[in-house]
Amino acid sequence: MASSGAAKELQLQGLRTYEQEPRRSASLIVNSQEPFNAETPASVLSSSYLTDEDMFYKRNHGPIPILPDPSTYNLIVTGALPNPLSLSLDFLKSLPKYTVVATLQCAGNRRTEMSKVRKVRGVGWGAAAIGTAAWGGAKLSDVLKLAGVDHFSNVTAEKGRHVEFVSCDLCKEENGGAYKASIPLLHATNPEADVLLAYEMNGKVLNRDHGYPLRVVVPGVIGARSVKWIERIIISERECQGFFQQKDYKMFPPRVDWDNIDWQSRRPLMDFPVQSAICEPQDGVVVKSGDAVDLYGYAVAGGGRGIERVDISVDNGKSWMEAHRLPKLQVGSDGYEDDSQRPDWAWTLWELKNVNVETPCTVIVKAVDTAANVQPADVGDIWNLRGVLNNSWHKITLQAQHPSSMSKL
Ligand code: MTE
Repeated sequence: MASSGAAKELQLQGLRTYEQEPRRSASLIVNSQEPFNAETPASVLSSSYLTDEDMFYKRNHGPIPILPDPSTYNLIVTGALPNPLSLSLDFLKSLPKYTVVATLQCAGNRRTEMSKVRKVRGVGWGAAAIGTAAWGGAKLSDVLKLAGVDHFSNVTAEKGRHVEFVSCDLCKEENGGAYKASIPLLHATNPEADVLLAYEMNGKVLNRDHGYPLRVVVPGVIGARSVKWIERIIISERECQGFFQQKDYKMFPPRVDWDNIDWQSRRPLMDFPVQSAICEPQDGVVVKSGDAVDLYGYAVAGGGRGIERVDISVDNGKSWMEAHRLPKLQVGSDGYEDDSQRPDWAWTLWELKNVNVETPCTVIVKAVDTAANVQPADVGDIWNLRGVLNNSWHKITLQAQHPSSMSKL
């Protein structure tokens, strides 16, 4: 009896308290301590194509699980499929390995700006609940094939249509139960959707904050479906009935508020829309009128669509210039031999240098994706009570030098 108890303690465990949280960089911008939610300083985002794991935004709904002995870990694949599996980490690592460079973005990115229009509920995020990493792991489509579900299946013989990912972190929104989410079977079994069971981030073992030992990465889709610390994959007839699939991460029109919301009336969010932000300079910095500034930022689109154009205005939208899109980074092997076939899962970093500004002024960025989708101009038009998918034009203000400070120079 005593030894089975000890073995249990070595397995992946969700925790109820925050005493065993991992160490974190002091440079992160912390939006909530428990659960730990933090974003990257924006200038760090635009300074490197891949976001360092320690500086990558962290979005949690409970304490970080712990796995004292990785040899005790098994991923269960079960439900409406022919061949249920229990897979060790070593076995998963023996499957063909893919490295996919993908941007992960929280649906709540830029929520704080939306709250300025009218208060929304949720953790306040600036424009850095986003990051790009080279994720390494096995393809979910390969694992499902081993479980008897062919590539490009939209239903199994057992009537399975959805793939649910169940974690082990304990969240108050699930009444103390585990975080979970699902994606449609066709998405999961499509090898070209590049959904990964990732055990590596930027060439290193995935760290605890980002899902050690194994997480799902669903490229091009809001971060909420990329379940961390995954324990179980269940093929089911219905989509996940958990809180985060049914009562959160949905988008409502501005007229819906907490007194008239009908959660069932909307679908769970999947692909994120075209998005961009200015990372440097910071909002509110002082610039002498007539001086030149260098602008840096990111632009990204969901669903594998790339960025076609990034437009910048320094006169509050009266005229526009096109920013220079920086070359993308491709690392490792993602299985695509022809660059033109690869879906675009990762952001485009951009810059526009030596721009003369008459301060005070508002600088705006907006991007256009490869399907010609554009960002909405006004955040008020897309206001929603949970503050999700704020992809309105991103604006910063450059302040003029105060006359008294000029005379001191
Ligand atoms: N998975 C689990 N198990 N628990 C969570 O709280 N948060 C989700 C997703 N996966 C979450 C999770 C959300 S909302 C986002 S945006 C991403 O993880 C954030 O991933 P990151 O912390 O690695 O950046």
